[in-house]
Formats: sequence, C-alpha cells, structure tokens
Amino acid sequence: MKELFDFNAKKYLVTGSSRGIGEAVVKALLSHGAEVWGVARTSFDESLCLNANFHPIIADLSSSESRGLILENSPDSFDGIFLNAGASGKIKPFNLVNEDEMKQLFELNFFSPFFLFQDLYKQRKVKAGASVVVNTASGVFYDTAASSSYCGSKGAMQAAFRSVGADVARRNIRVNFIAFGYVETELLKTNNVPDTIKALAPLGVPYPEDVSGGVLYLLSAASKWMSGTTLLSDSGLNLKKTALL
Ligand SMILES: NC(=O)c1ccc[n+]([C@@H]2O[C@H](COP(=O)([O-])OP(=O)(O)OC[C@H]3O[C@@H](n4cnc5c(N)ncnc54)[C@H](OP(=O)(O)O)[C@@H]3O)[C@@H](O)[C@H]2O)c1
Repeated sequence: MKELFDFNAKKYLVTGSSRGIGEAVVKALLSHGAEVWGVARTSFDESLCLNANFHPIIADLSSSESRGLILENSPDSFDGIFLNAGASGKIKPFNLVNEDEMKQLFELNFFSPFFLFQDLYKQRKVKAGASVVVNTASGVFYDTAASSSYCGSKGAMQAAFRSVGADVARRNIRVNFIAFGYVETELLKTNNVPDTIKALAPLGVPYPEDVSGGVLYLLSAASKWMSGTTLLSDSGLNLKKTALL
C-alpha cells in the first residue's frame, strides 16, 4: 500500500501555486517528500521559499516567452504535472460577455496549459509513466448559468486534454482531470458567487487543504491504471439536478 502513495524524491510541476488549490497541493506534496517546481506571477508563501525541495518559478503563463522560463528552470523530467493555474472571470450572462475578456480567459485556461504541456513533452521533460492532472471545473458538466466564458474555456481544455491523453498513452503517460465545485479561495471571492449559490453544495464549501487529497491520488501510483478519468470533487453539487445560477 505504501508504495502506491510514495512521492518521496519524485519531481512535480504545479502551476498556479502562490495561493489557493495549487499552494495546498504543493504543501501536501512537499510534506510527502516530493520535490516541487511551482509557477505563479507574484510571490510564494515564505514557508515554501524556505523549503529546499521547493523551486519557485515566477512566470506569466499567458505569455509564451514567459512560459520559456518554466522550461529553462525545470529539471530533466517530471514524474507528475498539475495543470492548475486558472481564473474564472466575472460571473455574467452571455449577453454581457466582452470579447477581449473572453479571449483573455481562454489564453490562461486553455492555450497556456496546452502549449506549456506541448513544450514540456517535446523537450522530453515528461517522464514515461508520468501522471498529468488537469484542473477543470464541475461547471463544465452542469447547466451553470452566467458562466459561458469560464465553462467554455474549461470545456475546451477538458476536450483537448482527453485527446492529448490518447496521444501520450503510448509513452505510458496518463492524463486525468479533477473537477471541483466551490472551494474557498481568492478566485471564489473575486468572482462574486453569492452565498445562496454556495449553500447548494450539500457537503459545504471546503478549503483548499481539504481537497488536495484528490489531486495527490491522481498524481500517485494508486491511480496508475487510470487515464481520461474525471474525479468530481464538488461537495455533492452533482446531486442537485438543477441549474446552479
Ligand atoms: N476555487 C474554486 O471554487 C474552483 C472551482 C473549480 C475549479 N477551480 C479551478 O482551480 C484552479 C485554481 O483555482 P483557485 O481557486 O486556487 O484560484 P486562486 O486562489 O485565484 O489561485 C490561482 C493561482 O493561479 C495563479 N495564476 C493566475 N494567473 C496566472 C498567470 N497568468 N500566470 C501564472 N500563474 C497564474 C495565481 O498566482 P498569481 O496571481 O501570483 O499569478 C494563483 O497561484 C483554477 O484553474 C480554477 O479554475 C477552482
């Protein structure tokens, strides 16, 4: 059993790790003996920077030049990659969606993980047998009103990476998805989701450290026979067969 969850001395890349879900996953990996490369545009928690097994990379994922920094500062290869960085934009009905804002969201949520992974793969930085976990969103699977830009960008990401999973399976690289409902992070605070909507989650709204276990499971050898699977970690929102907004 122990070897199924053995992260010791393994190397992981986590995008969007200065706060929220990414930071919680980095801390969980480090506490299990992994070495982690973390990406964000700003700064990282002091406790992370003091950890010799954490390697901060300051880069803007939306810019291809800046993504080059990740390649330059990476080890020879990764055992696992958590494509997590993303944004939701403001919640608004589709008739108020602005084209530039929508394109910006697609740049971060869809193009940046796709081309970052392509670059890593082409440079042979994704080990045979590696696990790739893509942070999608449960909203992709529900009729979530007022979220067309977000759900569109995450849906495109999910569809593209299912195809990627089929391409890379011959190198024994697996690609799985985690789909969260509402998690108490900066993203949730800034996108004005009302408390009445969050209250729809029967199990409540978790903090990032409460949900990092699902990501670790998909990164671990315990899930090594899975690819193309989506782990729905939505506090039971799927039990409510209603439109959410
Ligand atoms: N929270 C939820 O309820 C929820 C639900 C479903 C899915 N998700 C997904 O979970 C992922 C993480 O969300 P979160 O809630 O943890 O959000 P968060 O607290 O806002 O954290 C987002 C992280 O991404 C980084 N980031 C944003 N833009 C970036 C860029 N251009 N380049 C590099 N890094 C960038 C941020 O760091 P800097 O600002 O320092 O760059 C930060 O570390 C997202 O993909 C989100 O769609 C979240």
